[in-house]
Amino acid sequence: MTADIIDGKAFALTVRSRVAAHVAGLKADHGITPGLAVVLVGEDPASQVYVRAKGKKTVETGMNSFEHTLDAGTSEADLLALIDRLNGDPAVHGILVQLPLPGHIDSAKVLNAIDPAKDADGFHITNVGLLATGQKAMVPCTPLGCLMMLRDRLGSLSGLNAVVVGRSNIVGKPMAQLLLKEHCTVTIAHSRTRDLAGVCRGADILVAAVGRPGMVKGDWIKPGATVIDVGINRVPAPEKGAGKHRIVGDVEFASALEVAGAITPVPGGVGPMTIAILLANTVTACCRANGLPEPDGLTA
Ligand code: GUN
Repeated sequence: MTADIIDGKAFALTVRSRVAAHVAGLKADHGITPGLAVVLVGEDPASQVYVRAKGKKTVETGMNSFEHTLDAGTSEADLLALIDRLNGDPAVHGILVQLPLPGHIDSAKVLNAIDPAKDADGFHITNVGLLATGQKAMVPCTPLGCLMMLRDRLGSLSGLNAVVVGRSNIVGKPMAQLLLKEHCTVTIAHSRTRDLAGVCRGADILVAAVGRPGMVKGDWIKPGATVIDVGINRVPAPEKGAGKHRIVGDVEFASALEVAGAITPVPGGVGPMTIAILLANTVTACCRANGLPEPDGLTA
């Protein structure tokens, strides 16, 4: 069997055009333009690339993008003061603080200072609690993007065995909550799990989010399973020339392709969905703030 490859790039394009259509409606019918503020502290090159991409896609979708770039030495108090201003700014419907923050800043304190209603990343403890108790929340972008791809591929997820490898606050834990909400039987596995391969072999849905290149092998996968690879790992690629790198996932793609029913590639799978969902979350937050109907199919 050769797995179907789930085209995250094409899916993300569809999501972005649905977001753009909703934005156009908000403008035409209500004179409202959703706005997303992105805050970057420091000069981490990877973060700069992400923030630039987010700003570009926000504008392309017809929304306002507010970028705040602060130098690496910015104090926690100054960052909290900026968040306070953005919380009070009616033109800002979504706020994202790019992680990681410099070591002298308490990330949890900063994330919990964001108005939960404007929390485009869904990292505020209020949103974490709302999601965990099955209430209406702002949902983290990457796991919500994974859920949309799974629903698109499988329809109902009810009763399926889902294994999430990785227990991060950004992906693993919210992914597990979303799958539980879909009535899956969910296992969260991680680097200390005994017989990790055996646990994975029981999965109808396998989500790999550990940040270890190629850790999940083809013979860890149940034949026909749907595999979502969240990993983005930069590894040396001497075949491309001295000092060159390439991006690989947490799943050993070639061997997995022989066994899985469907699999997301890296790059071009989960990655493009994350920004698309960030835009969707901003529109959702804008609609909720204005008491308007939310876009169909773009929330959990
Ligand atoms: N850094 C890496 N991933 C993320 C994310 O999903 N959100 C934010 N804010 N920062 C990140």
